Amino acid sequence: MKRIDGKAHAQTIYQELAQEVEKMVHKPHLVIVQVGNHPASEAYIRGKMAAANQVGIHAVIANFPGTITQEQLINELECFNQDSNVHGIIVQLPLPDTFDEHRIAQTIAREKDVDGFHPANLGELLIHETDLEPCTPKGIIELCRREQISLQGKHVVIVGRSNIVGKPVALLALQANATVTVCHSQTQNLSALTQLADILIVAVGRANFITAEMVKTDAIVIDVGINRIAGKLVGDVDFHDVEKKVRAITPVPGGVGPMTVAMLMTNTVVAAKNQSKENAFLCANHQKK
Ligand code: GUN
Repeated sequence: MKRIDGKAHAQTIYQELAQEVEKMVHKPHLVIVQVGNHPASEAYIRGKMAAANQVGIHAVIANFPGTITQEQLINELECFNQDSNVHGIIVQLPLPDTFDEHRIAQTIAREKDVDGFHPANLGELLIHETDLEPCTPKGIIELCRREQISLQGKHVVIVGRSNIVGKPVALLALQANATVTVCHSQTQNLSALTQLADILIVAVGRANFITAEMVKTDAIVIDVGINRIAGKLVGDVDFHDVEKKVRAITPVPGGVGPMTVAMLMTNTVVAAKNQSKENAFLCANHQKK
């Protein structure tokens, strides 16, 4: 069994990105919007700030009190949309219950949507490859690529159908020529389907949900879950039970999580490059007139 080291891959990606950023005249600028002080969000944001610092991305936290209204937050986001110095915007989720996360995702300018949650960016995924793909699905595909795990012709079984992981990773796996099955809470005979997976991707948010008898011998297992049990982080896969049976598996922590952050940094660099190209085009057109 191989334990796939997402943290090491993320470090390599940061070094690669730092070299890219070094060459850029206008350094990428990321705004991380936080509403209130959700404890898990604080930890995630710290991780994102540290990664940005390593890459040379200028990242700031725009922290609004939990009392801000949805309309006020939308106004703030529109200001960031208008600001040509800002290349990437993310709104850290979850938001307080009074917010409509879908409406917030729609507000962010799609070229600055480095989370890849804007409906237009998600829609693009249906049709062809796009730059700004959601970070966790993109991180899973990138992890497979760097581990030389080909998806071509393989049966990829996904457990979980969320808008930010299950559905987009299904589309990315299809683009990589996999045969894809998406399972969810209403799936009958789940175990019979997970046992067919060459590559099993699990994103259900239930600690130790996948056990050894649910996986095929020599499968690849990608665990997206992050669950806190008695102060300890565990995945959706019962790691110690499953690891003996499979060819490779991602640990929690240190597997998919660091790749999500690495893809956020990648998307920010891509968004900044795209926007500087647009600016160059606008300037050239202006000079012609
Ligand atoms: N909260 C948990 N995961 C994510 C993510 O990928 N992006 C944002 N914005 N918030 C999150």
